[in-house]
Amino acid sequence: MKMPTLRLDKLLTDTGRWSRKESRELIRAGRAAVNGETVRRPEQKADPERDAVAVDGAPLAWSAHSYLMLHKPCGVVTATEDRRDRTVLDLVPEALRRSGLAPVGRLDKDTSGLLLLTDDGAMAHALLSPRRHVDKVYLAGIGGRVGEEDCAAFRAGLVLADGTRCLPAELEDLGDGLCRVTIREGKYHQVRRMLAARGHAVRTLCRLSVGPLRLDESLAPGAVRPLRPEELGALRAAAER
Ligand code: URA
Repeated sequence: MKMPTLRLDKLLTDTGRWSRKESRELIRAGRAAVNGETVRRPEQKADPERDAVAVDGAPLAWSAHSYLMLHKPCGVVTATEDRRDRTVLDLVPEALRRSGLAPVGRLDKDTSGLLLLTDDGAMAHALLSPRRHVDKVYLAGIGGRVGEEDCAAFRAGLVLADGTRCLPAELEDLGDGLCRVTIREGKYHQVRRMLAARGHAVRTLCRLSVGPLRLDESLAPGAVRPLRPEELGALRAAAER
């Protein structure tokens, strides 16, 4: 006999489409069904991997894990809790919250851009491993220009002021006081310290992509959305490489 595993209200909330309160209300209103039968008790259990769960007749897309894209604004800290500052988790609407949700890697308080949040620890670990060669691309405002010697130093593997050696990285001058930096590690303040090692002070820093995942330009700073299936598929492929 199969074992039911999750309360129906939790299962609905995990999809990110409804808050716990909304899930309970819609179940009580008779809008949810399990294996074709209307269920009105939020506490009734269902196995999301085996039972056919539907709301208003439409099958429910359920995933064992949650994967969220955040456009991190400057001024919030990459942490799950902090006594003083707002954290990236504070920006996640209640309907998208899950236990174990955490940022993948870290952006400085003054850095904006793409931040992935997930409760899938194995995926997070794989994406952060330098062995997987998952590129992270940043747009840095330096108010000046980087030259060919700077780019060559990045390609060769830069040594930071404290003697730390970086893996080979890419640096491109974009004009207008901007440059693009591609790294595959995540050392503390890495981009700022790499550019500082070449005499360039970073004024603004924004992460544009992590592996195949690009910052959605339509996502306003501070906004969060679940990854689309094709984004998740590409990310999984990058993490498994
Ligand atoms: N490198 C930095 O210096 N800061 C970040 O937030 C990310 C990469």
